[in-house]
Amino acid sequence: MDLDSLRAALEASPENIPLLLMVATALEDEFELDESREMLDRVLKLDPKNSSAQVSIARLIDLEGRTSEAVLRIEALLEKDKGCAAGWLLRSRLAFKEGEVTAARGYYEKAIEIDPSVSDESFLGQIIKSGGSSASEGKRAMVTTSGDFLEEPDDDEDPFSGLDAVAAHDLEMEFRVKADKKFEDVGGMEAVKEDIRMKIIHPLKNPDLFKAYGKKAGGGVLLYGPPGCGKTLLSQATAGEIKANFFSVGLHQVLEMYIGESEQKLHRIFELARKASPSVLFFDEIDALAADRRDLRGSAGRTLINQFLTEIGEEAENEGVLILGATNAPWHLDGAFLRPGRFDRLIFVPPPDQIAREEILRIHAKEKPVVSLEEAAVARKCDGFSGADLRAVFDRATESKLEEAMKKGKIIPVTGKDLIKSSRSVKPSTRKWFESAKNYALYANQSGFYDDVLHYLGIKK
Ligand SMILES: Nc1ncnc2c1ncn2[C@@H]1O[C@H](COP(=O)(O)OP(=O)(O)OP(=O)(O)O)[C@@H](O)[C@H]1O
Ligand SMILES: [Mg+2]
Repeated sequence: MDLDSLRAALEASPENIPLLLMVATALEDEFELDESREMLDRVLKLDPKNSSAQVSIARLIDLEGRTSEAVLRIEALLEKDKGCAAGWLLRSRLAFKEGEVTAARGYYEKAIEIDPSVSDESFLGQIIKSGGSSASEGKRAMVTTSGDFLEEPDDDEDPFSGLDAVAAHDLEMEFRVKADKKFEDVGGMEAVKEDIRMKIIHPLKNPDLFKAYGKKAGGGVLLYGPPGCGKTLLSQATAGEIKANFFSVGLHQVLEMYIGESEQKLHRIFELARKASPSVLFFDEIDALAADRRDLRGSAGRTLINQFLTEIGEEAENEGVLILGATNAPWHLDGAFLRPGRFDRLIFVPPPDQIAREEILRIHAKEKPVVSLEEAAVARKCDGFSGADLRAVFDRATESKLEEAMKKGKIIPVTGKDLIKSSRSVKPSTRKWFESAKNYALYANQSGFYDDVLHYLGIKK
């Protein structure tokens, strides 16, 4: 939304507080600090206790170079409104700026405890890099009177030892994800859910039963399928279903490190998951790590691959740790990953069918102004669309409505008709995937790994 149309909308409804705040932010982005301040003062005239406006004013004052005044203001606000996440975040930034990294870390944690959506990974990364360790949970660490951390001696016999509690906590902060999703948050996909129940949930719940039949409950499960069809979402929901701790590892978090460091980090992540069992350790886009040796492009170093194979192998004590991987390109995986005891169960996550698409549309429609969704009709028009494509359909329709709403200064709901209209400008993204998948399934289908793809395409019964 550009500044001019925001200004025009404001002219139509000069007392609209959310709009005033938006204009203030847009002005701040343009470094029009005086005008931004003017907007915020207008908000306070209408609503003297408005916390968002007060936080923004403190930020402007800091931008003008008066940091200590900004600190005073924000502290006064937090005194009155302890639940103001944006306020704690700004307090954290100001502390960081003044070199108080440990305090900055504390304020940051407070902010995301109140509202996880204010989290800012790159800022947290800066704090951690500058040595801002967590004060709240460094269980084994002791705090000296000056506020510095003392490490307790480490008696771990681990080859990668030296991982003190504070570092472990930082690692946990980096990778732990709330497992608050359930299968009911995933629209449709009943066959996949059943597959997950059989291959993951029941084995974890009844390990003895599985042992009796000579099967192990551990090992890894690989979700594969076209992009945007819910692999990541299903993994989160699986963790929620089994009430396990969930650690999500994006491989860029491990790969972009110095040689030797990434192996160490990978090991620490596995240790973290083992200590927190029952847990799910999720590797998204695992093909980045496990690319075929011959496929040098984008492949991780050999030593990192070996480290990974050791961590998931039979020797490792992964009791109660479920290792989940997700990929769009299972055929790029090094064969060593798919051997028994490693990622030996594959689950195909297909594009949503009509019923799933209807349900996904209903899920996307929640918390948005929508009338006459007519999901059945919309879903019929969206054959071949992934969940992500469906969201794009929604986003496009909402955008044009929002523009209209701005001009008129009132909410104009989105309808099924709008969605059908915007669906014409979104290309279904799954077809392309099946074009390549089909070739691999037909010509490189060792041990019948891709039978599910062939079933889906109706090539194999
Ligand atoms: N069955 C579904 N129910 C509800 N939402 C869905 C469903 N499938 C996909 N989505 C939504 O579509 C988006 C993409 O899903 P997700 O990220 O899980 O796909 P993915 O298979 O992991 O994609 P990629 O291969 O690109 O990583 C998310 O916003 C997700 O919430
Ligand atoms: Mg994903």
